[in-house]
Amino acid sequence: MQRILVTGGAGYIGSHTCLRLLEAGYEVIAVDNFCNSNPESLERVKKLTGKSLTVYEANICDRQSIKKIFEAHDIDAVIHFAGLKAVGESVEKPLEYYYNNVYGTLVLCDVMADAGVKNMVFSSSATVYGLSDDVPFSEDAPTSATNPYGRTKLFIEEILSDLKVADKEWSITLLRYFNPVGAHKSGLIGEDPKGTPNNLMPYISQVAVGRLKQLQVLGDDYPTIDGTGVRDYIHVMDIAEGHVKALEGPRVKEGPAVYNLGTGKGNSVLEVVKAFEKVNGIVIPYKITDRRAGDVASSYADPSKAQKHLNWTAKLTLNDMVRDAWNWQKKNPNGYA
Ligand code: NAD
Ligand code: UD1
Repeated sequence: MQRILVTGGAGYIGSHTCLRLLEAGYEVIAVDNFCNSNPESLERVKKLTGKSLTVYEANICDRQSIKKIFEAHDIDAVIHFAGLKAVGESVEKPLEYYYNNVYGTLVLCDVMADAGVKNMVFSSSATVYGLSDDVPFSEDAPTSATNPYGRTKLFIEEILSDLKVADKEWSITLLRYFNPVGAHKSGLIGEDPKGTPNNLMPYISQVAVGRLKQLQVLGDDYPTIDGTGVRDYIHVMDIAEGHVKALEGPRVKEGPAVYNLGTGKGNSVLEVVKAFEKVNGIVIPYKITDRRAGDVASSYADPSKAQKHLNWTAKLTLNDMVRDAWNWQKKNPNGYA
Protein backbone atom coordinates (compact mmCIF):
# COMPACT_ATOMS: atom_id res chain seq x y z
CA MET A 1 0.00 0.00 0.00
CA GLN A 2 1.21 3.48 -0.81
CA ARG A 3 0.85 6.52 1.43
CA ILE A 4 -0.43 9.66 -0.29
CA LEU A 5 -0.41 13.15 1.21
CA VAL A 6 -3.33 15.18 -0.16
CA THR A 7 -3.11 18.96 0.31
CA GLY A 8 -6.51 20.67 0.18
CA GLY A 9 -8.00 17.24 0.86
CA ALA A 10 -11.19 18.58 2.47
CA GLY A 11 -12.09 20.69 -0.58
CA TYR A 12 -14.44 19.85 -3.41
CA ILE A 13 -12.12 17.85 -5.67
CA GLY A 14 -9.85 16.84 -2.78
CA SER A 15 -12.61 15.09 -0.82
CA HIS A 16 -13.79 13.10 -3.86
CA THR A 17 -10.20 12.14 -4.64
CA CYS A 18 -9.52 11.04 -1.03
CA LEU A 19 -12.57 8.78 -1.35
CA ARG A 20 -11.29 7.20 -4.60
CA LEU A 21 -7.79 6.77 -3.14
CA LEU A 22 -9.16 4.94 -0.09
CA GLU A 23 -11.32 2.75 -2.33
CA ALA A 24 -8.24 1.97 -4.44
CA GLY A 25 -6.35 0.81 -1.35
CA TYR A 26 -4.12 3.82 -0.68
CA GLU A 27 -3.42 5.20 2.76
CA VAL A 28 -4.42 8.87 2.83
CA ILE A 29 -3.06 11.76 4.87
CA ALA A 30 -5.04 14.95 4.22
CA VAL A 31 -3.81 18.46 5.02
CA ASP A 32 -6.13 21.44 4.91
CA ASN A 33 -6.47 24.77 6.69
CA PHE A 34 -10.23 24.73 5.96
CA CYS A 35 -10.11 28.28 4.54
CA ASN A 36 -12.56 27.14 1.85
CA SER A 37 -13.88 23.83 3.19
CA ASN A 38 -15.38 22.04 6.15
CA PRO A 39 -13.81 19.10 8.06
CA GLU A 40 -17.20 17.40 7.80
CA SER A 41 -16.43 16.47 4.15
CA LEU A 42 -13.71 14.07 5.26
CA GLU A 43 -15.87 12.66 8.08
CA ARG A 44 -18.33 11.72 5.36
CA VAL A 45 -15.56 10.21 3.23
CA LYS A 46 -14.77 7.94 6.19
CA LYS A 47 -18.43 7.00 6.49
CA LEU A 48 -18.78 6.26 2.78
CA THR A 49 -15.64 4.13 2.50
CA GLY A 50 -15.71 2.52 5.96
CA LYS A 51 -11.99 3.38 6.08
CA SER A 52 -10.02 5.84 8.12
CA LEU A 53 -7.69 8.59 7.00
CA THR A 54 -5.45 11.00 8.88
CA VAL A 55 -6.44 14.66 8.76
CA TYR A 56 -4.18 17.58 9.71
CA GLU A 57 -5.37 21.16 10.07
CA ALA A 58 -2.38 23.06 8.70
CA ASN A 59 -1.43 25.77 6.22
CA ILE A 60 0.94 24.68 3.45
CA CYS A 61 2.75 28.02 3.86
CA ASP A 62 3.71 26.98 7.42
CA ARG A 63 6.98 25.12 6.89
CA GLN A 64 7.28 23.75 10.43
CA SER A 65 3.79 22.21 10.41
CA ILE A 66 4.30 20.61 7.00
CA LYS A 67 7.75 19.34 7.99
CA LYS A 68 6.28 17.62 11.05
CA ILE A 69 3.74 15.80 8.90
CA PHE A 70 6.51 14.46 6.64
CA GLU A 71 8.44 13.36 9.74
CA ALA A 72 5.41 11.56 11.15
CA HIS A 73 4.55 9.58 7.98
CA ASP A 74 6.53 7.72 5.37
CA ILE A 75 4.89 9.46 2.42
CA ASP A 76 5.29 8.15 -1.14
CA ALA A 77 3.61 10.89 -3.18
CA VAL A 78 1.75 14.18 -2.85
CA ILE A 79 -1.43 15.27 -4.63
CA HIS A 80 -1.43 19.04 -4.36
CA PHE A 81 -4.91 20.63 -4.47
CA ALA A 82 -4.47 23.34 -1.82
CA GLY A 83 -4.97 26.76 -3.33
CA LEU A 84 -7.32 29.70 -3.66
CA LYS A 85 -9.39 29.58 -6.83
CA ALA A 86 -11.80 32.52 -7.21
CA VAL A 87 -10.89 34.53 -10.30
CA GLY A 88 -12.61 37.79 -9.25
CA GLU A 89 -11.14 37.67 -5.75
CA SER A 90 -7.68 37.10 -7.22
CA VAL A 91 -7.95 40.37 -9.15
CA GLU A 92 -8.80 42.19 -5.91
CA LYS A 93 -6.26 40.41 -3.71
CA PRO A 94 -3.36 39.39 -5.97
CA LEU A 95 -0.79 39.22 -3.18
CA GLU A 96 -2.95 36.82 -1.19
CA TYR A 97 -3.20 34.56 -4.25
CA TYR A 98 0.53 34.65 -5.06
CA TYR A 99 1.42 34.09 -1.41
CA ASN A 100 -1.00 31.24 -0.79
CA ASN A 101 -0.70 29.42 -4.11
CA VAL A 102 2.86 30.13 -5.26
CA TYR A 103 4.69 30.50 -1.95
CA GLY A 104 2.67 27.60 -0.49
CA THR A 105 3.84 25.39 -3.36
CA LEU A 106 7.47 26.49 -2.89
CA VAL A 107 7.36 25.57 0.79
CA LEU A 108 5.70 22.25 0.03
CA CYS A 109 8.28 21.31 -2.64
CA ASP A 110 11.15 22.32 -0.39
CA VAL A 111 9.89 20.20 2.49
CA MET A 112 9.22 17.31 0.09
CA ALA A 113 12.76 17.47 -1.29
CA ASP A 114 14.22 17.48 2.25
CA ALA A 115 12.12 14.43 3.07
CA GLY A 116 13.17 12.71 -0.17
CA VAL A 117 9.58 12.61 -1.47
CA LYS A 118 9.94 13.69 -5.09
CA ASN A 119 6.62 12.68 -6.53
CA MET A 120 3.85 15.24 -7.07
CA VAL A 121 0.56 15.46 -8.92
CA PHE A 122 -0.48 19.11 -9.24
CA SER A 123 -3.96 20.60 -9.84
CA SER A 124 -3.62 22.87 -12.81
CA SER A 125 -6.45 24.25 -14.89
CA ALA A 126 -7.65 24.82 -18.43
CA THR A 127 -7.37 28.48 -17.50
CA VAL A 128 -3.71 28.21 -18.67
CA TYR A 129 -4.99 28.14 -22.27
CA GLY A 130 -5.85 31.83 -21.73
CA LEU A 131 -8.12 33.67 -24.15
CA SER A 132 -7.50 31.34 -27.07
CA ASP A 133 -10.52 29.67 -28.62
CA ASP A 134 -8.54 27.36 -30.84
CA VAL A 135 -10.48 24.35 -29.56
CA PRO A 136 -10.03 21.55 -28.75
CA PHE A 137 -6.96 22.36 -26.63
CA SER A 138 -4.17 19.82 -26.68
CA GLU A 139 -1.44 19.98 -24.03
CA ASP A 140 1.06 21.62 -26.37
CA ALA A 141 -1.24 24.59 -27.13
CA PRO A 142 0.25 27.98 -26.17
CA THR A 143 -0.37 29.02 -22.56
CA SER A 144 -1.12 32.42 -21.05
CA ALA A 145 -3.06 33.97 -18.22
CA THR A 146 -5.54 36.79 -17.92
CA ASN A 147 -5.86 37.14 -14.15
CA PRO A 148 -3.77 36.54 -11.00
CA TYR A 149 -5.45 33.17 -10.28
CA GLY A 150 -4.56 31.89 -13.74
CA ARG A 151 -1.06 33.30 -13.38
CA THR A 152 -0.52 31.33 -10.15
CA LYS A 153 -1.30 28.13 -12.10
CA LEU A 154 1.03 29.13 -14.93
CA PHE A 155 3.85 30.16 -12.57
CA ILE A 156 3.53 26.94 -10.57
CA GLU A 157 3.61 24.86 -13.76
CA GLU A 158 6.84 26.64 -14.73
CA ILE A 159 8.39 26.34 -11.27
CA LEU A 160 7.69 22.61 -11.24
CA SER A 161 9.15 22.29 -14.76
CA ASP A 162 12.35 24.03 -13.60
CA LEU A 163 12.51 21.72 -10.60
CA LYS A 164 12.33 18.70 -12.89
CA VAL A 165 15.14 20.09 -15.10
CA ALA A 166 17.33 20.64 -12.03
CA ASP A 167 16.68 17.25 -10.47
CA LYS A 168 15.59 14.33 -12.66
CA GLU A 169 14.57 12.31 -9.61
CA TRP A 170 11.37 14.33 -9.41
CA SER A 171 8.24 12.86 -10.93
CA ILE A 172 5.81 15.68 -11.64
CA THR A 173 2.38 15.42 -13.22
CA LEU A 174 0.39 18.52 -14.13
CA LEU A 175 -3.31 17.80 -14.51
CA ARG A 176 -5.22 20.53 -16.31
CA TYR A 177 -8.87 20.19 -15.30
CA PHE A 178 -11.59 21.60 -17.49
CA ASN A 179 -14.91 22.21 -15.63
CA PRO A 180 -15.36 19.77 -12.73
CA VAL A 181 -19.02 19.48 -11.67
CA GLY A 182 -21.37 17.00 -9.99
CA ALA A 183 -20.90 15.06 -6.78
CA HIS A 184 -20.48 11.56 -5.41
CA LYS A 185 -23.60 9.54 -6.21
CA SER A 186 -24.47 9.16 -2.52
CA GLY A 187 -25.11 12.92 -2.27
CA LEU A 188 -23.10 12.94 0.96
CA ILE A 189 -20.17 14.94 -0.42
CA GLY A 190 -20.25 17.67 -3.05
CA GLU A 191 -19.37 21.25 -3.94
CA ASP A 192 -20.05 23.76 -1.17
CA PRO A 193 -18.91 27.21 -2.31
CA LYS A 194 -18.73 30.00 0.26
CA GLY A 195 -20.98 32.96 -0.62
CA THR A 196 -22.63 33.35 -4.01
CA PRO A 197 -21.21 30.80 -6.47
CA ASN A 198 -19.09 32.11 -9.35
CA ASN A 199 -19.44 28.94 -11.39
CA LEU A 200 -22.39 27.77 -13.44
CA MET A 201 -23.36 24.39 -11.92
CA PRO A 202 -23.41 25.40 -8.23
CA TYR A 203 -25.34 28.53 -9.26
CA ILE A 204 -27.98 26.45 -11.05
CA SER A 205 -28.21 24.06 -8.07
CA GLN A 206 -28.74 26.94 -5.67
CA VAL A 207 -31.48 28.38 -7.88
CA ALA A 208 -33.09 24.92 -7.93
CA VAL A 209 -33.02 24.65 -4.14
CA GLY A 210 -34.41 28.18 -3.71
CA ARG A 211 -31.31 29.86 -2.28
CA LEU A 212 -31.00 32.07 -5.39
CA LYS A 213 -33.83 33.55 -7.44
CA GLN A 214 -32.68 33.13 -11.00
CA LEU A 215 -29.66 32.31 -13.10
CA GLN A 216 -27.96 35.05 -15.09
CA VAL A 217 -26.83 33.64 -18.42
CA LEU A 218 -23.70 35.67 -19.03
CA GLY A 219 -23.98 36.50 -22.72
CA ASP A 220 -25.88 34.98 -25.66
CA ASP A 221 -23.94 36.53 -28.52
CA TYR A 222 -20.94 34.19 -28.64
CA PRO A 223 -20.19 32.33 -31.88
CA THR A 224 -21.51 29.04 -30.44
CA ILE A 225 -24.43 26.69 -31.10
CA ASP A 226 -26.95 28.93 -29.26
CA GLY A 227 -24.86 32.02 -28.49
CA THR A 228 -24.05 31.02 -24.89
CA GLY A 229 -20.60 29.98 -23.66
CA VAL A 230 -19.44 26.42 -24.31
CA ARG A 231 -17.38 24.48 -21.73
CA ASP A 232 -16.10 20.96 -21.16
CA TYR A 233 -18.01 19.87 -18.04
CA ILE A 234 -16.54 16.80 -16.42
CA HIS A 235 -17.85 14.74 -13.50
CA VAL A 236 -15.82 15.19 -10.33
CA MET A 237 -15.61 11.39 -9.87
CA ASP A 238 -13.93 11.13 -13.30
CA ILE A 239 -11.49 13.83 -12.17
CA ALA A 240 -10.84 11.87 -8.95
CA GLU A 241 -10.16 8.72 -10.97
CA GLY A 242 -7.72 10.71 -13.13
CA HIS A 243 -5.58 11.28 -10.03
CA VAL A 244 -5.44 7.59 -9.19
CA LYS A 245 -4.39 6.90 -12.80
CA ALA A 246 -1.80 9.70 -12.65
CA LEU A 247 -0.20 8.13 -9.54
CA GLU A 248 -0.04 4.81 -11.34
CA GLY A 249 1.00 6.29 -14.71
CA PRO A 250 4.37 6.03 -16.44
CA ARG A 251 7.26 8.09 -15.07
CA VAL A 252 8.39 10.67 -17.62
CA LYS A 253 12.12 11.32 -18.03
CA GLU A 254 12.09 14.83 -19.47
CA GLY A 255 9.93 17.61 -18.04
CA PRO A 256 6.69 17.22 -16.16
CA ALA A 257 3.97 15.01 -17.61
CA VAL A 258 1.05 17.24 -18.61
CA TYR A 259 -2.47 15.93 -19.13
CA ASN A 260 -5.84 17.49 -19.85
CA LEU A 261 -8.69 16.08 -17.80
CA GLY A 262 -11.81 16.77 -19.84
CA THR A 263 -14.44 14.83 -21.76
CA GLY A 264 -13.52 16.36 -25.11
CA LYS A 265 -17.11 17.51 -25.56
CA GLY A 266 -18.40 21.05 -25.06
CA ASN A 267 -21.86 22.04 -23.86
CA SER A 268 -23.44 25.49 -23.88
CA VAL A 269 -24.91 27.19 -20.81
CA LEU A 270 -28.42 26.64 -22.15
CA GLU A 271 -27.71 22.96 -22.85
CA VAL A 272 -26.62 22.52 -19.22
CA VAL A 273 -29.74 24.33 -17.98
CA LYS A 274 -31.96 22.15 -20.19
CA ALA A 275 -30.27 18.93 -19.08
CA PHE A 276 -30.68 19.95 -15.41
CA GLU A 277 -34.37 20.71 -15.95
CA LYS A 278 -35.08 17.51 -17.88
CA VAL A 279 -33.19 15.04 -15.69
CA ASN A 280 -34.35 16.54 -12.38
CA GLY A 281 -37.83 17.73 -13.33
CA ILE A 282 -37.21 21.28 -12.12
CA VAL A 283 -37.63 24.60 -13.91
CA ILE A 284 -34.62 26.93 -13.68
CA PRO A 285 -35.66 30.55 -14.19
CA TYR A 286 -33.00 32.54 -16.04
CA LYS A 287 -32.37 35.83 -17.76
CA ILE A 288 -29.80 36.74 -20.37
CA THR A 289 -27.32 39.42 -19.25
CA ASP A 290 -24.05 40.88 -20.54
CA ARG A 291 -20.92 38.82 -21.04
CA ARG A 292 -18.55 38.34 -18.07
CA ALA A 293 -15.15 40.00 -18.56
CA GLY A 294 -12.45 37.46 -19.36
CA ASP A 295 -14.81 34.73 -20.64
CA VAL A 296 -14.05 32.88 -23.87
CA ALA A 297 -16.69 31.57 -26.27
CA SER A 298 -15.62 27.93 -26.22
CA SER A 299 -13.24 25.83 -24.17
CA TYR A 300 -12.94 22.06 -24.40
CA ALA A 301 -10.19 19.50 -24.22
CA ASP A 302 -8.46 17.15 -26.52
CA PRO A 303 -8.29 14.39 -23.87
CA SER A 304 -6.48 11.82 -26.06
CA LYS A 305 -3.11 12.10 -24.30
CA ALA A 306 -4.50 11.03 -20.91
CA GLN A 307 -6.32 8.19 -22.63
CA LYS A 308 -3.15 7.02 -24.36
CA HIS A 309 -0.65 7.37 -21.49
CA LEU A 310 -2.79 7.00 -18.36
CA ASN A 311 -5.48 4.74 -19.75
CA TRP A 312 -7.94 7.29 -18.37
CA THR A 313 -11.08 8.49 -20.02
CA ALA A 314 -14.12 10.34 -18.65
CA LYS A 315 -17.02 7.90 -18.33
CA LEU A 316 -19.89 9.90 -16.84
CA THR A 317 -22.27 12.00 -18.96
CA LEU A 318 -23.81 15.45 -18.61
CA ASN A 319 -27.00 13.75 -17.39
CA ASP A 320 -24.99 12.04 -14.60
CA MET A 321 -23.43 15.39 -13.70
CA VAL A 322 -26.71 17.32 -13.37
CA ARG A 323 -28.38 14.41 -11.53
CA ASP A 324 -25.58 14.12 -8.98
CA ALA A 325 -25.19 17.89 -8.55
CA TRP A 326 -28.90 18.12 -7.67
CA ASN A 327 -28.86 15.02 -5.45
CA TRP A 328 -26.10 16.61 -3.34
CA GLN A 329 -27.77 20.04 -3.26
CA LYS A 330 -31.24 18.80 -2.30
CA LYS A 331 -29.86 16.57 0.46
CA ASN A 332 -27.63 19.43 1.71
CA PRO A 333 -29.48 22.66 0.90
CA ASN A 334 -26.94 24.65 2.92
CA GLY A 335 -23.90 22.55 2.09
CA TYR A 336 -22.00 21.13 5.08
CA ALA A 337 -23.20 23.91 7.41
P1 NAD B 1 -11.59 23.97 -3.01
O1 NAD B 1 -11.47 25.39 -2.60
O2 NAD B 1 -12.85 23.26 -2.70
O3 NAD B 1 -10.37 23.13 -2.44
C1 NAD B 1 -9.11 23.70 -2.13
C2 NAD B 1 -8.80 23.29 -0.70
O4 NAD B 1 -7.51 23.81 -0.34
C3 NAD B 1 -9.80 23.85 0.31
O5 NAD B 1 -10.21 22.82 1.17
C4 NAD B 1 -9.00 24.91 1.08
O6 NAD B 1 -9.43 25.03 2.41
C5 NAD B 1 -7.59 24.36 0.96
N1 NAD B 1 -6.51 25.35 1.04
C6 NAD B 1 -6.39 26.51 0.36
N2 NAD B 1 -5.24 27.14 0.71
C7 NAD B 1 -4.63 26.34 1.62
C8 NAD B 1 -3.41 26.44 2.35
N3 NAD B 1 -2.60 27.50 2.23
N4 NAD B 1 -3.08 25.44 3.21
C9 NAD B 1 -3.89 24.37 3.35
N5 NAD B 1 -5.05 24.23 2.69
C10 NAD B 1 -5.43 25.21 1.84
O7 NAD B 1 -11.30 23.93 -4.58
P2 NAD B 1 -11.42 22.72 -5.60
O8 NAD B 1 -12.47 23.07 -6.58
O9 NAD B 1 -11.50 21.44 -4.88
O10 NAD B 1 -10.03 22.86 -6.34
C11 NAD B 1 -8.88 22.12 -5.97
C12 NAD B 1 -7.71 22.55 -6.83
O11 NAD B 1 -8.03 22.36 -8.21
C13 NAD B 1 -7.35 24.03 -6.69
O12 NAD B 1 -5.95 24.16 -6.75
C14 NAD B 1 -8.00 24.67 -7.90
O13 NAD B 1 -7.33 25.83 -8.31
C15 NAD B 1 -7.84 23.55 -8.93
N6 NAD B 1 -8.84 23.64 -10.01
C16 NAD B 1 -10.17 23.64 -9.70
C17 NAD B 1 -11.12 23.76 -10.71
C18 NAD B 1 -12.59 23.80 -10.40
O14 NAD B 1 -13.37 24.19 -11.26
N7 NAD B 1 -13.05 23.42 -9.22
C19 NAD B 1 -10.70 23.83 -12.04
C20 NAD B 1 -9.34 23.78 -12.33
C21 NAD B 1 -8.41 23.70 -11.29
C1 UD1 C 1 -14.20 29.81 -14.54
C2 UD1 C 1 -12.96 30.66 -14.37
C3 UD1 C 1 -11.73 29.84 -14.72
C4 UD1 C 1 -11.68 28.56 -13.89
C5 UD1 C 1 -12.98 27.79 -14.12
C6 UD1 C 1 -13.06 26.53 -13.29
C7 UD1 C 1 -13.65 32.98 -14.86
C8 UD1 C 1 -13.53 34.13 -15.81
N1 UD1 C 1 -13.04 31.84 -15.23
O1 UD1 C 1 -14.26 29.44 -15.88
O2 UD1 C 1 -10.56 30.58 -14.48
O3 UD1 C 1 -10.58 27.79 -14.26
O4 UD1 C 1 -14.09 28.63 -13.76
O5 UD1 C 1 -13.17 26.84 -11.94
O6 UD1 C 1 -14.24 33.10 -13.80
N2 UD1 C 1 -22.04 31.29 -16.56
C9 UD1 C 1 -23.29 31.86 -16.59
N3 UD1 C 1 -23.84 32.27 -15.40
C10 UD1 C 1 -23.20 32.12 -14.20
C11 UD1 C 1 -21.92 31.52 -14.20
C12 UD1 C 1 -21.36 31.12 -15.40
O7 UD1 C 1 -23.88 32.01 -17.64
O8 UD1 C 1 -23.76 32.53 -13.17
C13 UD1 C 1 -21.44 30.82 -17.84
C14 UD1 C 1 -20.08 31.41 -18.16
O9 UD1 C 1 -20.19 32.60 -18.89
C15 UD1 C 1 -19.44 30.27 -18.96
C16 UD1 C 1 -20.07 29.01 -18.35
O10 UD1 C 1 -21.26 29.43 -17.71
O11 UD1 C 1 -19.81 30.35 -20.31
C17 UD1 C 1 -19.18 28.33 -17.34
O12 UD1 C 1 -18.77 29.27 -16.35
P1 UD1 C 1 -17.91 28.83 -15.06
O13 UD1 C 1 -18.58 27.71 -14.39
O14 UD1 C 1 -17.67 30.06 -14.27
O15 UD1 C 1 -16.54 28.27 -15.67
P2 UD1 C 1 -15.50 28.96 -16.68
O16 UD1 C 1 -16.05 30.14 -17.33
O17 UD1 C 1 -14.99 27.88 -17.55
